Amino acid sequence: MINYTEKIPNNVDLGRDRVLQRALEHWQPAYMGWWYDMGPNESHNYEVYLRTATSVEPDGWAQFGYVKMPDYRWGIFLQPRDEKREVNFGIHKGQSAWQEVPGEYRSTLRRVIVTQGDTEPASVEQQRMLGASCPSMYDLRNIFQVNVEEGRHLWAMVYLLHRYFGRDGREEAESLLARRSGDADNPRILGAFNEPTPDWLAFYMFTFFTDRDGKFQLCALAESGFDPLARTCRFMLTEEAHHMFVGETGISRIIQRTCEVMKEHKVEDPQDVRALGVIDLPTIQRYLNFHYSVTLDLYGSDVSSNAANYYTSGLKGRFRETKLEDDHVLADAEYPVSEVVGGKIITKNVPALTALNERLRDDYIEEIADGVGRWQRVIDNAGIPFRLTLPHKGFHREIGNFTGHFINPDGEVLSEEAWRNHEFAWLPNAKDYAYVQSLMSGRVVEPGKFANWIAPPARGINNQALNFEYVRFN
Ligand SMILES: [Fe+2]
Ligand SMILES: [Fe+2]
Repeated sequence: MINYTEKIPNNVDLGRDRVLQRALEHWQPAYMGWWYDMGPNESHNYEVYLRTATSVEPDGWAQFGYVKMPDYRWGIFLQPRDEKREVNFGIHKGQSAWQEVPGEYRSTLRRVIVTQGDTEPASVEQQRMLGASCPSMYDLRNIFQVNVEEGRHLWAMVYLLHRYFGRDGREEAESLLARRSGDADNPRILGAFNEPTPDWLAFYMFTFFTDRDGKFQLCALAESGFDPLARTCRFMLTEEAHHMFVGETGISRIIQRTCEVMKEHKVEDPQDVRALGVIDLPTIQRYLNFHYSVTLDLYGSDVSSNAANYYTSGLKGRFRETKLEDDHVLADAEYPVSEVVGGKIITKNVPALTALNERLRDDYIEEIADGVGRWQRVIDNAGIPFRLTLPHKGFHREIGNFTGHFINPDGEVLSEEAWRNHEFAWLPNAKDYAYVQSLMSGRVVEPGKFANWIAPPARGINNQALNFEYVRFN
């Protein structure tokens, strides 16, 4: 169970490590300062029907109740230790999993933890204005739940920095509260976390696409030979599932509503669809293209010696590493990657160790494709002849082998001019953003009411009714 009687709730026996406890208690007010400044705008007095983790067991999620978000019990929760756990891959395979940081990997490991940690507050910053345009009280509650949990993920990474990296770690923990998403001078570390999330269509796309990148990165780190990192990430993953649920069902409900209106009024032209106050399917496709492509960049270069080093040293594994049936060393294995040669995309095999970013990206794409397939079924069930597609992997990329090439969603390499001529048929344009935002000029918060552009969900949170008061405004 988690000890909630302490100032910082935890299941790591924090009270026995006074130095660490003092360091974290020093960081806590800085974190609260960040939350008041950069957490959900004007939300601090709301009472929100949130779930709080009360145990790190898979069923420890039953605690629902009204919480003012600044009173949320952020804390430090690790999955319990498995004494027999080993390093499961790389050159240290078969050693007991490390309980302290191996000296030779200290700076690499710190960088990995900081990079993951930086994404957590970034997404809260990106989403902080969206409460003012929520489509329902149910959705408002969901974004707040996502936000407080991202806050806790930051706590999780900061615990590792404080506990295992001494003074450098404490400095990094302070920097995590100093960077700001989209800031010109002190931005967040990764590109997608500096993009604005200007509206709820973007928010659902972000939680579907970008939170899922989070899932895959956490899965790879949950395999780490550094046991405290693995255990921390395992617990974070249980929370990530809800974030992706919010994204997938959010888009699904938008599609459902659009299809209902198209059928009812027998319209197909996007202008006619917009005239009825719902989001036309081509606009949804353009948002999808944008969020998918910027998220693919988060996996890094297709061929990467860093990725090889992380793996060989046992710091970051593959997706479901221990379920894979091979030697877990990959000395002779190969993996296909693509590149542009002479205006054509070709695929060739490279050493699998260097292609681990690409492999993780491919695992991600597979799961994304399933989700897009489920959205497609909503359209098909409505009998509307429209296909949502994932663009080619090389479309609109700024990191890796496709950088600097102009590839259309079908995977054809174009001239820059030809690509620019179609850019805004493929990516959201200023009119798309203006239209989507025009639908969200105010918030819908009467219990049980939903904005016209989105269908209600199939059921409420924690079996509550759809007209349950998920947020109390004070
Ligand atoms: Fe997270
Ligand atoms: Fe998340």
